[in-house]
Amino acid sequence: MGISSIADLLDTVQHSEALAFLKTLPDETINSIITSPPYFGQRDYGEEGQIGLEETAQEYVDALVTVFREAKRVLKKDGTFWLNIGDSYVGATSQHREGGSQGKNSRYSRKHMNGVPTTGRSKRNKAFYAMGLPMKSLVGMPWRVAFALQNDGWLLRCDIVWHRPSSSESVKDRPTHAHEYIFMFSKNQHYYYDRSSMLTDTGANIQSVWRVTGSPFTGSHCATFPPELIEPIILASCPEDGVVFDPFGGSGTVGVVCREHGRHFLLCDISYENVELARKRVTEGITKNDKKRLQSVSLEQQLLPLFQNLNSSST
Ligand SMILES: C[S@@+](CC[C@H](N)C(=O)[O-])C[C@H]1O[C@@H](n2cnc3c(N)ncnc32)[C@H](O)[C@@H]1O
Repeated sequence: MGISSIADLLDTVQHSEALAFLKTLPDETINSIITSPPYFGQRDYGEEGQIGLEETAQEYVDALVTVFREAKRVLKKDGTFWLNIGDSYVGATSQHREGGSQGKNSRYSRKHMNGVPTTGRSKRNKAFYAMGLPMKSLVGMPWRVAFALQNDGWLLRCDIVWHRPSSSESVKDRPTHAHEYIFMFSKNQHYYYDRSSMLTDTGANIQSVWRVTGSPFTGSHCATFPPELIEPIILASCPEDGVVFDPFGGSGTVGVVCREHGRHFLLCDISYENVELARKRVTEGITKNDKKRLQSVSLEQQLLPLFQNLNSSST
């Protein structure tokens, strides 16, 4: 059943499937949505209704579009939506250190998944072959999702490239893939945007390539984004006392950073394990390492090195 005000939900982490939870929220109450959904075919959270293990890539895209359509309804007229999403290669055994594919015998799975069964790489590859993509092909999933959201009425304002120099991928026949996207969408042509949070140290407008090196929180069974990646976004997209919503809250990074900056947050996640972890993080405040990073790193656009260390691999 729907509620008429979100006052009682402010600064909480709700245990719920995203679409079902969104349906309970009133229209136009959220200032900003910042989120990182599960990537396609990479992880089994072991939950009914989870996103990411659809049979086809189109079903995955459709599921995200449906969630974000409902999110648009709850977003204020002047709100913005920031979507972090990374790409993958057909047949890849690893992508990034925190976001590698999850074959059930992969080192990452053994370490982090505690034996949770995963449908793994072969299912994902089958879906990619069905799309006509051969082995080694870059899928372009972020753009597939972005175009689908555009077609659904979102206004795509920027494709921010999150340069992750710590990428552990090793290849010999192409450059090492070391970035993800953060798509900035708005509901309307005019929206809340505090530009002062998006300036470099010299006062110039921030550019669209962000080199953020801070390692994300690692004590979680999901890929987390680092606090300093979303800090300027929270400041620019949500006024003080406004509300930031993350429908795929994970370990609660959005809540942790909102709390540091006097913004309200509302998070939900389908996994109770993650909800408990997020509640702990947001109530106990920022962890020691999180704090160190937020103090020492000021986000500034840096020149991308033309050549990084290229290691070896096959996708
Ligand atoms: C990539 S993680 C988010 C990480 C988060 N940005 C952080 O920094 O911790 C994706 C999360 O989505 C959750 N999830 C998957 N399907 C969901 C659904 N249908 N509704 C809500 N949460 C879902 C997973 O449990 C997981 O915690």
